[in-house]
Amino acid sequence: MTEVFKGSFTQQEPIPRAGITAAMAVLQHGRLHRYNTVADEISETALLEQEFAATVGAKYCLAVASGGYAMATALRAVGVKPGDPVLSNAFTLAPVPGAIAAVGARPIFVGVTQSLTIDLDDLEAKIGQASVLLLSHMRGHICDMDRLMAICDGAGVTVIEDCAHTMGAAWNGVPSGRSGAVGCYSCQTYKHVNSGEGGFLVTDDPEIAARSIMLSGSYMMFERHLAGPPKEAFDKIRYETPNISGRMDNLRAAILRPQVADLATQCARWNERYGALEQGLRDTPGLTVIERPEQETIVGSSIQFLLLDWDAGDLRDVLARCAARGVELKWFGNAEPVGFTSRYDSWRYADAPAMPATDRLLAGIVDMRVPLTFSLEDCALISRIIRSEVSAVYQRQVRAAQ
Ligand SMILES: Cc1ncc(COP(=O)(O)O)c(C=O)c1O
Repeated sequence: MTEVFKGSFTQQEPIPRAGITAAMAVLQHGRLHRYNTVADEISETALLEQEFAATVGAKYCLAVASGGYAMATALRAVGVKPGDPVLSNAFTLAPVPGAIAAVGARPIFVGVTQSLTIDLDDLEAKIGQASVLLLSHMRGHICDMDRLMAICDGAGVTVIEDCAHTMGAAWNGVPSGRSGAVGCYSCQTYKHVNSGEGGFLVTDDPEIAARSIMLSGSYMMFERHLAGPPKEAFDKIRYETPNISGRMDNLRAAILRPQVADLATQCARWNERYGALEQGLRDTPGLTVIERPEQETIVGSSIQFLLLDWDAGDLRDVLARCAARGVELKWFGNAEPVGFTSRYDSWRYADAPAMPATDRLLAGIVDMRVPLTFSLEDCALISRIIRSEVSAVYQRQVRAAQ
């Protein structure tokens, strides 16, 4: 009997009961704006910032409207100006170059390796071209952060980390987002905490924190930020920093607080599912699993594998055969952007010289979401389906070559 998977690749878990209760309280009192508080009340947003800062061990945290907004704010706060070059990953999702474009700057793309991380040799070659790197830990893959920081520190390049896919992950025990000057996170529904939209920016630098708070639209109420820098940090920057509103509100913060408290447990559950999928896919002829270095603490909320150097028609066939059995795979090899899988050459507002080594890898990257609504049995079934369809097409290739 042909097995078919019936679950949904886009269905996340419900908001925890404590989040629903807290959200109802906010709805009932009506003070959704973060600075709308009574007497001694501390807003849900200010508390959330304090709790997230403690979770990742940052001095300062700002909750904002989206991960993309956090990145654009970080770029502005470290001094990126229109026309400035900003180094970034060629393999990432559209909000990353979009954040660079939002501040009028120009992305300079750095290639990807077979580990799906930024190519540090290419970074070394291009490091002199910019003074800021917006580093995307794309699909949760963390590069050798020790080497990356040595390259950037050596060249005086400021690192902003895009941790949209690595909230809760770490490199050598250092939480993702805590190696660079700024860490940016997303709370959008498909990320590790879910408020529909939302984001965080963390830093230990009081001036970057002060600028970010001013940028987000603090109406000079920056002293209400429990996870903000001391008042003096604002003295220098308060008149020269524009208000580009992008605050978080108390409703989203109320939903997020219990999820942040539960992050480690949820990450462990993602990793069980990732482990089941990876084990099921390992040793499939023609398919390369992505080996994860021991320094990396992962959060397996998605999984990637390579069908490297496959004919595009055969690869499309695998995707179609898996889809027919209920398994939704995404592919970064499509010349036309489909869903979330756009490529550096799809972002035509940016000047992007061809990168043949990166193109070869992109052409083989297959991606799958792993929502926590999947059981371990679901993961085993999904990997059996992928395995059988990849094997069938691969054997056809082998026979054709004989
Ligand atoms: C790699 C990456 N970075 C940043 C973001 C931005 O997050 P948001 O959607 O909250 O703006 C996303 C969202 O999909 C993403 O995938």
